[in-house]
Amino acid sequence: MITYNNNLFNIETKNSSYVFANEHCPHNIYWGDKIHGEDLSYLVKERGHSSFDMNINAEREEYGFWTGFSFLESCLKISYPEIRKLDMKFIDYSIETVNKDMDRLTFRYKNSYSDLYVTLFYDVYAEYDIISRYAEVYNDGEEVIIENLKSASLSIPKLNNYRVKYLTGKWAGESNINDQYLTTGAFTIQSRCGNTGPHFNPSFALDDGTATEKSGNVWFGLLGYSNNWQISFEKTIYDNVKITGGISNFDFMFTLTKGESIKTPAMTVGFSSEGYGEMSRKLHAFEVDHIFPKRSLARVLYNSWEATYFDVRVDSQKALAERAAKIGVELFVIDDGWFGMRHNDKAGLGDWYVNKEKFPKGISEFIDYVKSLGMDFGIWVEPEAVNPDSDLYRAHPDWIYRFKDQEPMQARNQYTLNISKKEVKEYILGFMSGLLSENKDITFIKWDMNKTLTDVSVGDTAKDKELWFKHAQALYEIWKELRAKFPHVEFEVCAGGGSRIDLGILQYADQCWPSDNTDAYERLFIQEGFSLFYAPRIMTSWVTDASSHCDRKYERPYSYRFHSSMMGVLGIGANISNFNEEVLEEFKKYIAIYKDIRETVQYGKQYRLSSVRESSLHAVEYISQDEKEVVVFAFRQGYQFGDVMPYLVLQGLDPNAMYQVEGTELKLHGSTLMKVGIETSLWGDFDSQYFKLTRG
Ligand code: GLA
Repeated sequence: MITYNNNLFNIETKNSSYVFANEHCPHNIYWGDKIHGEDLSYLVKERGHSSFDMNINAEREEYGFWTGFSFLESCLKISYPEIRKLDMKFIDYSIETVNKDMDRLTFRYKNSYSDLYVTLFYDVYAEYDIISRYAEVYNDGEEVIIENLKSASLSIPKLNNYRVKYLTGKWAGESNINDQYLTTGAFTIQSRCGNTGPHFNPSFALDDGTATEKSGNVWFGLLGYSNNWQISFEKTIYDNVKITGGISNFDFMFTLTKGESIKTPAMTVGFSSEGYGEMSRKLHAFEVDHIFPKRSLARVLYNSWEATYFDVRVDSQKALAERAAKIGVELFVIDDGWFGMRHNDKAGLGDWYVNKEKFPKGISEFIDYVKSLGMDFGIWVEPEAVNPDSDLYRAHPDWIYRFKDQEPMQARNQYTLNISKKEVKEYILGFMSGLLSENKDITFIKWDMNKTLTDVSVGDTAKDKELWFKHAQALYEIWKELRAKFPHVEFEVCAGGGSRIDLGILQYADQCWPSDNTDAYERLFIQEGFSLFYAPRIMTSWVTDASSHCDRKYERPYSYRFHSSMMGVLGIGANISNFNEEVLEEFKKYIAIYKDIRETVQYGKQYRLSSVRESSLHAVEYISQDEKEVVVFAFRQGYQFGDVMPYLVLQGLDPNAMYQVEGTELKLHGSTLMKVGIETSLWGDFDSQYFKLTRG
């Protein structure tokens, strides 16, 4: 519920209150546990310290305009050819119910010096304790240049400490969980690489340093933007903590002529009073219900990348496909190497025609073969990039980003295409539409992007600084159009592993590839970090020959590899053409188990029972939406010193209901399972167990 009384906006969700005052600059009064927010008008007063700090409320402003009396990160900074001053005055607000799950508050300002309007949006998802915040700038006057544009600012109530949890990473080592305690000053996470980036993910959680998986207040936020972004955490000398997120200031500028507007990416924020576990469950449910495209169960896929790399030949692919079908795979995906002169990463990218040497009878013959084996078919593309050694680049050297008269940088022997350019966008839409309409049985696209954006220029400084934003916009437009045109096709987002995972692209993606590191043990760390902010429904995980891509090969038992990969969307990436019947039978058995429980894993409530970072026992539980099925995966890396076998203490059950542990005589009350637990038997190195419990 949203109300407005005594200049106070009071946003109530199921378990939280978010209150801000429309006085002395719109500023936050309270955000946290649910209270009677309407009481708080007594806190609305002018706060100043000295002529240096005339308005301390400005440190808590909902959306800061430069020039105001706040010296913190602002949300909007402009420069007209003449006027730079923003004196934004409130003009009106509206409250409406948009659908059964969402109410929207809009709040409008106008500059007193010009015809510039700003609308703030608060999309309130009360059941999830989540608010999606974004802003729109509309220019009805002379041309204006925007130099800084953010989605929102947030203020945290006074706490004893401020601990920020956030994810960092690198290629093959994504989703590390970090803790940063704020001291007076600023701390920033960001991407400047033209993509969401592997180094930081645009997500955070904040508590007072005492919250756990099961208890404590946690404030959290995720930015939905797949280009240069920035989230800053500022703790001021007056002990205000302000979090500002949105498009990065780095190399950004945007011109609005009369009648034009720009909308920021959304910053999705929320509050949990029951720790990090509840935070993740709220997010997972919200993402499934309101961000991700509506889909049913994700299919078990086979991807041939690690088996054949670029050497994708029809015979070897057929051999893989036959075996994949036998073990129960539902979707066969061909990765890089099927097109142009793509024999390695040095050539062919951009030439989206089937390589005749590898597929003499075309790709359709192979697709038919896959279909005849009872599987669906999917294919890899990387449309935003081009090898210099390609027909596309030779024909259109002007399609890539480059500074005037200068040689652009290459990474993985490729350049990036300026996809905001009309012809380029049309080329991509053209070949993708051709591929998908000529081959109606392609029902899955893995869309990759293996280069950071460099040389982002068309040789015109003002236009150059708009390109980053326009790249993201064009990408979303392309995906949106393709999805509308080919609704039966599912999309997987990948960027050299997990460099493009954010709620912006995930509006269009059915699943994502979190890392090129497919070692089952290291993957547990990556998956745990991922699970803080993102739902298992989109987390693809392959069982491979256990390579971590770091020149090391690991021998993990197949059971362990499967259990690790069954925690999201199961895929197989191993070279199954090398396997004997016995191993294939084992694969078949695990795939069948996964199919039986996948609905619970993909759509259930996830409980991180024991962290791989903190304990020798790692365990994760999933409870189905109807609460009838419980699935638990448990892992132990080594058995040492005659240690006592750990118990699995479950969470989220009905204390008075009975649960049958599959394959045993055990039938226990939820209370017993949540207080005492079930004994594990994890004796060996890299041992793992899977449990299924049924209520009733
Ligand atoms: C990236 C992806 C891999 C694979 C290769 C193909 O590295 O993350 O999964 O698709 O590209 O070149």
